[in-house]
Amino acid sequence: MPEQSSRRASAAKTAATTAKATRPQEATPNHTAAPLCLPTDRELVMRVMPLPADSNANGDVFGGWIMAQVDLAGAVLPSRIAKGRIATVAVNEFVFKQPVSIGDLLSFYANIVRVGRTSITVRVEVYAERDPADLRVVKVTEANLTYVAIDEDGIPREIPGS
Ligand SMILES: CC(C)(COP(=O)(O)OP(=O)(O)OC[C@H]1O[C@@H](n2cnc3c(N)ncnc32)[C@H](O)[C@@H]1OP(=O)(O)O)[C@@H](O)C(=O)NCCC(=O)NCCS
Repeated sequence: MPEQSSRRASAAKTAATTAKATRPQEATPNHTAAPLCLPTDRELVMRVMPLPADSNANGDVFGGWIMAQVDLAGAVLPSRIAKGRIATVAVNEFVFKQPVSIGDLLSFYANIVRVGRTSITVRVEVYAERDPADLRVVKVTEANLTYVAIDEDGIPREIPGS
């Protein structure tokens, strides 16, 4: 999993993109509504658009970049539930279903799979909106990750209310 510094850099870039994506809609709502085929039964936890610096030698987006974004997105709901520090303990499953292209707008949806004594497992699904001239939505990635609530010494602590 990425180190803390690269997490911060990614988080800063993501925050900028998310802020742009969630700015109050000033234009006619019909022009700005998300495509209908994006999920409505899970929480949208992050949106980000990969840039050329995130590509691999084939010109697609580097898988490691996608994994880092999924790790950040997956942490959103567990952080809220754990009410404090968490650490990624395991990536239980990670499937790259379709390649991601530069300029795809990626939406990360999450739902909680399990809340244990000190750990929380979350499922993350990533959808790409591509080709604005002929908009398509494609599921590109699915993953299951487990996070552990930790105290200030990095020792597992109980999930509040568990
Ligand atoms: C996360 C960490 C504190 C857990 O410490 P630990 O002594 O292994 O903790 P435990 O064995 O008591 O397990 C803690 C919880 O994690 C779960 N867990 C441990 N390994 C797991 C695995 N491979 N898959 C799924 N869950 C796992 C346990 O089931 C337990 O959950 P529960 O209390 O809800 O039943 C420690 O492993 C660690 O610091 N790892 C490095 C974390 C890190 O650097 N992540 C990358 C950057 S955030």
